Amino acid sequence: MKKEQMYEGKAKKIFSTENENECIVSYKDDATAFNGLKKGTIRGKGEINNRMTNYLMTKLEKEAGIPTHLIKELSNTDTLVKKVHIVPLEVIVRNVIAGSLSKRLGAPEGTELKCPVLEFCYKDDELGDPMVNDYHILAMGWTDKKTLDQIKDYAFRINDYLVKFFKEIGIDLIDFKLEFGITADGTLVLADEISPDTCRFWDSKTKEKLDKDRFRRDLGDVEGAYQEMIKRVFSHE
Ligand code: TMP
Ligand code: ASP
Repeated sequence: MKKEQMYEGKAKKIFSTENENECIVSYKDDATAFNGLKKGTIRGKGEINNRMTNYLMTKLEKEAGIPTHLIKELSNTDTLVKKVHIVPLEVIVRNVIAGSLSKRLGAPEGTELKCPVLEFCYKDDELGDPMVNDYHILAMGWTDKKTLDQIKDYAFRINDYLVKFFKEIGIDLIDFKLEFGITADGTLVLADEISPDTCRFWDSKTKEKLDKDRFRRDLGDVEGAYQEMIKRVFSHE
């Protein structure tokens, strides 16, 4: 079914298929951090990220009415998705201060926010994905006002859904990154992944980190954290 490799990113490969409007995402165990400066392998990550993303996207479609690029899981690491033009923005939602926001505001990690914070970064590795605001986005024509408003609405609705979902399996959803794309018929859909690579997950009781920060910060037992997360996600309901 896979034809040829169209693109290889840091954590996934994309293949074309016989259908020009569909492609196959293949998740890798490769891990990078700090814009590719730090490299490594997290055994089993490809499978975990693929299965967690598909599980959550299916739920978001059915239970929160969020359109996604997902068509069908093909194997443990491969998924058939709608081909999209990616809106070149990293859409970040934060519920608790951590990571770069902690550094930027000089507030300790774990500080509660009075309401969720939405941030945008322009997707450009050479520039180090700089943070931008609505004015930059519209002035540069990265997307239009209507699409941007729709992205914001989806991002907050996804946050509401996911915070509740993860709370039920004993996880605080600290922050996460989303990407959106436009399909051939012009529909805005959630794309990319929702996984321990792109979210911060803290155990609600112990506040133990169960995400890629274990790799970024050399905290040890990275594989164990990913396995614990997939186990809890699949234990829901
Ligand atoms: P940050 O605190 O480093 O800005 O990260 C915010 C969230 O975005 C966090 O959940 C990790 C995720 N993220 C990515 O998915 N990709 C990235 O390249 C970066 C920097 C962060
Ligand atoms: N994956 C990203 C990179 O290597 C960064 C990160 O997730 O921290 O650039």
